[in-house]
Amino acid sequence: MFVFAKKADLAHHLAQIGNTKKTVGLVPTMGALHQGHLSLLSKSCSENDITVISIFVNPTQFNNQEDLEKYPRTIERDIEKVRSVSENILIFSPTVEDIYEGNTQSVAFNYDGLEFQMEGAHRPGHFDGVGTIVKKLFEIVKPTNAYFGEKDFQQLQIVRKLVKKHKIPVNIIGCPIHREASGLAMSSRNERLSEEAKEDASLIYKVLLDAKQKFSTKSAKEVTDFVTQTFAKHPAFTLEYFEIADETTLLTCKRKSVGKKYRGFIAVFINNIRLIDNIALN
Ligand code: PAF
Repeated sequence: MFVFAKKADLAHHLAQIGNTKKTVGLVPTMGALHQGHLSLLSKSCSENDITVISIFVNPTQFNNQEDLEKYPRTIERDIEKVRSVSENILIFSPTVEDIYEGNTQSVAFNYDGLEFQMEGAHRPGHFDGVGTIVKKLFEIVKPTNAYFGEKDFQQLQIVRKLVKKHKIPVNIIGCPIHREASGLAMSSRNERLSEEAKEDASLIYKVLLDAKQKFSTKSAKEVTDFVTQTFAKHPAFTLEYFEIADETTLLTCKRKSVGKKYRGFIAVFINNIRLIDNIALN
């Protein structure tokens, strides 16, 4: 099992094993790996000659210092989980210094407005940080394919925009959300939830399913009001937003248009822990 802490060592190893003649799959993560990540790894292993997973808690995408400090870091456990998928996966677990070389700053990106919606509106600078690290990882690993979960659907669309605008030769592959038996979307942040909060949090998916059902007969505003009112009744939750948006432009749906694909997007706090989820509505 190879674990690289330095980008130069990983790049050297990839060059030695002839990466330019082989397909390379990259799974970018911030660690605290769960079944969702492992399914991305399995998919990458089945579709590429070489698979690299990056495990790096990227400071520039956190707009909240406490969130950054409390983000779970479980590298030993993560290595074992990667090993359970395949011994051949290359792990890249760099330090902040190795990645940012003393300049821990984001580059400002223009994603044609995708960055001003939802997560972008509530987490200023977040997508500049994501773009900065993802672009750096693409430059280091030069992957053929890169795998991202649909739980961060807005991030997935932003990464697609990034590679298109910067003409980066990589296929971006979106993969379905993995859920606990309760319906709770798998997330590294779930590690911070108490058992009780985890149980409560299963309401999120139940409400999204109800919203999907209602969306076939009701207006976007009626569905949004239903979700807002449901969470207002539950003291454990503070709803940050629920938005019905066009899947491609991420613009809020004011009135449904035939032929457009819509998704419901939610961000909610439970015990001060922020969870996001989304669902295809039509
Ligand atoms: O989705 C994540 O875990 C992160 O945003 C990513 C893509 C690994 C960049 O740090």
